[in-house]
Amino acid sequence: MDIPRRKFDTLIIGAGGGGLRAALQLSRAEAHVAVVSKVFPTRSHTVAAQGGVNAALANVLPDNWHWHMFDTVKGSDYLGDQDAIEYMCRAAPRVVYELEHMGVPFSRLDNGRIYQRAFGGQSRDFGGEQAARTCAAADRTGHAILHSLYQQNIRARTHFFDEYFAVDLIRDDEGVVLGAVALEIATGEPIVIEAKTTLLATGGAGQLFRTNTNALINTGDGMAMALRAGIPLQDMEFFQFHPTGIAGKGMLITEGARGEGGYLINSEGERFMERYAPKAKDLASRDVVSRAIAIEVREGRGCGPNRDHVLLKLDHLGVDIVARRLPGIRDTVRTFLHIDPAETPIPVYPTAHYTMGGIPTDRFGQVVVPEHNGPEEPVVGLYAAGECACVSVHGANRLGGNSLLDILVFGRAAANHIIEFLRENRYHRPLDETSIERALARLVRWDQPGRGETVDGLRQELQKVMEEDCGVFRNEETLRQGTQRVAAIAERLQDAGIRDHSKVFNTARIEALELENLVEVALATVHSALERKESRGAHSRVDFPDRDDIHWMRHTLFYRDGRRLDYKPVRIKPITVEPFPPKERVY
Ligand code: FUM
Repeated sequence: MDIPRRKFDTLIIGAGGGGLRAALQLSRAEAHVAVVSKVFPTRSHTVAAQGGVNAALANVLPDNWHWHMFDTVKGSDYLGDQDAIEYMCRAAPRVVYELEHMGVPFSRLDNGRIYQRAFGGQSRDFGGEQAARTCAAADRTGHAILHSLYQQNIRARTHFFDEYFAVDLIRDDEGVVLGAVALEIATGEPIVIEAKTTLLATGGAGQLFRTNTNALINTGDGMAMALRAGIPLQDMEFFQFHPTGIAGKGMLITEGARGEGGYLINSEGERFMERYAPKAKDLASRDVVSRAIAIEVREGRGCGPNRDHVLLKLDHLGVDIVARRLPGIRDTVRTFLHIDPAETPIPVYPTAHYTMGGIPTDRFGQVVVPEHNGPEEPVVGLYAAGECACVSVHGANRLGGNSLLDILVFGRAAANHIIEFLRENRYHRPLDETSIERALARLVRWDQPGRGETVDGLRQELQKVMEEDCGVFRNEETLRQGTQRVAAIAERLQDAGIRDHSKVFNTARIEALELENLVEVALATVHSALERKESRGAHSRVDFPDRDDIHWMRHTLFYRDGRRLDYKPVRIKPITVEPFPPKERVY
């Protein structure tokens, strides 16, 4: 097939904060950069981040990066790689000041400094009193950051392919990544984008679950592309459930609401987090608070006619704080529940929020895989950053406010590494035609009429299965059942179709491709969860309730071929400081 081809130094897939931060660094260094995004860039999911970005600026309370590092290691339940965590926490103040200079309208203290609020799992002095480390633009921080980054990219002349869907990576026989095949959504025309380096920044896979905080676009596209290119996914068993989604609907109510002084109560009016986390209470880490809510409901102390949620109380804060610091959630609650949170408590329940696992990278954003049971080697030409990557700074549980930080720090770090790479690799390698044809075959398949079920029906079933078999609490039986049910959906998808081809727009084909991606990621998630026989962070096995550092202080790697698992050690050694050894994790 004769299809258009374009050449760039770097192809970035995904226009959220990670992709745009990397693109900006590269464009400013005069690299020829293309960003492919399936939505208009400012609709990327970063726009939905509410509470803020962590950096030890010490504007409100004493703070330093080393305390931030301690909290992040502890929050990760000691599965995070400590070199990457040190790097991220040290870089945090600089990336926040860079944003300030780019024009991000942070909320301000009376003295003019950036406003910082308390978030879960934050402490002073290595586990002491609560810290206030989350830099906020009211409760619309992601929105403010994404718009500023986009404007700066326009100024720096980054080239955008808006509303193009990346289908698959182009990888040659030597394993070098040479760009990707994409599809223009409006016309359905494919395009080959050839690049010396490719950065995956496609975000997470929250659409795996029925109730989630994620945009519809969060379908694990980059992760699935990596799997199909022979790259494993790391630590996919760790999926974060945010404690406060609107009950039954899933929309995010920022942790900032608790940071501003809100708290949870059960049907008896009891502030139950005092029992589960006597010191941090409602600002314990997310895995702890989510489990506590699920237990309250399971033990009959849930609220409402069905006793299926708890209440988040903000009414004692006063209208001024709610209106000034939490205007977005006030809007959301008024729109979806027709109540004013400044007057009436909000019904909440844990909701799927964040993919801790992803494409394995080092702290320079290079995708790295173990070669022939030996040490890890970079996949030449391929980088990943943000939620689609696993660097791994979040380990088994991410702290609130560390995801915006992750995308900024590692988007920037990947770009810096790419700049070095481009200095030494000035020419494009020949394209791999087989790899291009394989990607195109994925498109042709969805031009055929389906013989079986619809894409939409299968997607809903997948979300239900994941929620039932791989939710907040898991066990051998449900996980084994989950692997079988997801495998059956994968089989049935082979025969599924777009119902009436003459009547549908191209987006139907995109939804089909997205479902293929979700199924790939679901298989990685259930298989990894079945294998990990311990409870750590967000992975809570009722049949293995304890953390097992002897056997499981290691990362899982899921390979698509043979649906097999491999393992690699946690990088305990930081860059300059002493490691934080594993300890019992109490809040
Ligand atoms: O609760 C929130 O505002 C979410 C923040 C995050 O996931 O980092």
